Amino acid sequence: MANLQSEFLGIKSPNPFWLASAPPTDKEYNVVRAFRAGWGGVVWKTLGEDPPIVNVNGPRYGAVHGPDRRLLGLNNIELITDRPLHVNLQEIKKVKRDWPDRALVVSLMVPCEERNWIDILKLVEDTEADGVELNFGCPHGMSERGMGSAVGQVPEYIEMVARWCKANTRMPVIVKLTPNITDIRYPARAARQGGADAVSLINTLNSIIGVNLDNFAPIPEIDGKGSHGGYCGPAVKPIALNMVAEIARDPETAGLPISAIGGITTWRDAAEFIALGATNLQVCTAAMTYGFKVVQEMISGLSDWMDEKGFASIDDFAGRSVPRMSDWQYLNLNYVTKAVINQDLCIKCGRCHIACEDTSHQAITHMVNGKRHFEVIDEECVGCNLCVNVCPVEDCITMKQIHGIDPRTREPIPEVYANWTTHPNNPGAVKEAAE
Ligand SMILES: Cc1cc2nc3c(=O)[nH]c(=O)nc-3n(C[C@H](O)[C@H](O)[C@H](O)COP(=O)(O)O)c2cc1C
Ligand code: SF4
Ligand code: SF4
Repeated sequence: MANLQSEFLGIKSPNPFWLASAPPTDKEYNVVRAFRAGWGGVVWKTLGEDPPIVNVNGPRYGAVHGPDRRLLGLNNIELITDRPLHVNLQEIKKVKRDWPDRALVVSLMVPCEERNWIDILKLVEDTEADGVELNFGCPHGMSERGMGSAVGQVPEYIEMVARWCKANTRMPVIVKLTPNITDIRYPARAARQGGADAVSLINTLNSIIGVNLDNFAPIPEIDGKGSHGGYCGPAVKPIALNMVAEIARDPETAGLPISAIGGITTWRDAAEFIALGATNLQVCTAAMTYGFKVVQEMISGLSDWMDEKGFASIDDFAGRSVPRMSDWQYLNLNYVTKAVINQDLCIKCGRCHIACEDTSHQAITHMVNGKRHFEVIDEECVGCNLCVNVCPVEDCITMKQIHGIDPRTREPIPEVYANWTTHPNNPGAVKEAAE
């Protein structure tokens, strides 16, 4: 059986699934229930200085649902913990003492002065917590006060605070990054430059979830007004995957440990993040939607899949997809595919035809010999994959690589790899020795 035992920055946990800093980790009661359910660790809900912040007393969440009302994206306007600092610290100390085999990292956010960081680090060290995570990510409420993403959007600040923290604590320091930035590599490089032991990402995306069309207030609505909030859940996973991969393959941050966060709901999501370079995983929305026991499916699913693939430990496949990430210009232009419709599975709904007819390459029939029939016209198909994605029947349309003559161009398909950098249409083409 695969070994899910995890060691991240020397912090041991029975599995790599940690709860991200958020309501599920806001107090002892929750964290103990989470540990009982099987979570490998937690990042405690972000601590700030006393007096504690104050949350709104009305709705703080909004959601995007799929047609089956499954929650796809969650938006929140909650701030950091609103409980007194000493209460959190006492509970952290107790939980760590009672659950020594679980990871307990404490998330922190204080004003951007070295003294403030020194003071809070000392208090956290006294709890025997395993490490700290610097919250440079919250996009609302705290950022207007010069904290959270206001720091995470300025690489120089990230580097400065990371350096202060490394100089003033023996605990491992994780820098939590905001996705509300143009190029995630810059803040990640700054974190490494400042000496951070790892980065975690992503925090939430700045967003407005919707507008009430009766009174025109943004949602969620507090007495007729709304504010932008942080977006998370399954909808943000692709953004997080890309950002994790960007950091994993950037020569300046390659090898920097990554704790992946963003939409992780199933073991598959977890496996994908690990393949793209993460060695630790954090989850928030899935626990808030389905409860703490959701981790059990993550653990058993990941372990079963690893057994099936012959991976004994997480390290056996961590980063496997990184060398397979390529810049667009190096993709093989001689890889030619056509869509193929399985007539036994087709329910003749016509979605593929309409999508291809109206917005792609007019490559799918809808009538053949006076009968409703959907079939790919190879002479027109550019292999774009749109029909596969709009077809409501899984695996009904598949993409198949072809060799020989391409019926669309009527040209032979070269059997060698060739990319845009050497293509004759590229004004800047360079002759590659690889020919
Ligand atoms: C209600 C709520 C409160 C959050 N509070 C914090 C916080 O205090 N500190 C923090 O670093 N991240 C906070 N987050 C962000 C999460 O830790 C996590 O980065 C984000 O939700 C993405 O993960 P997910 O898609 O699994 O939810 C919060 C998220 C939610 C939904
Ligand atoms: S792959 Fe693209 S071009 Fe080909 S049939 Fe499907 S939608 Fe049309
Ligand atoms: S979308 Fe799929 S099921 Fe519908 S007609 Fe096309 S192939 Fe058939």
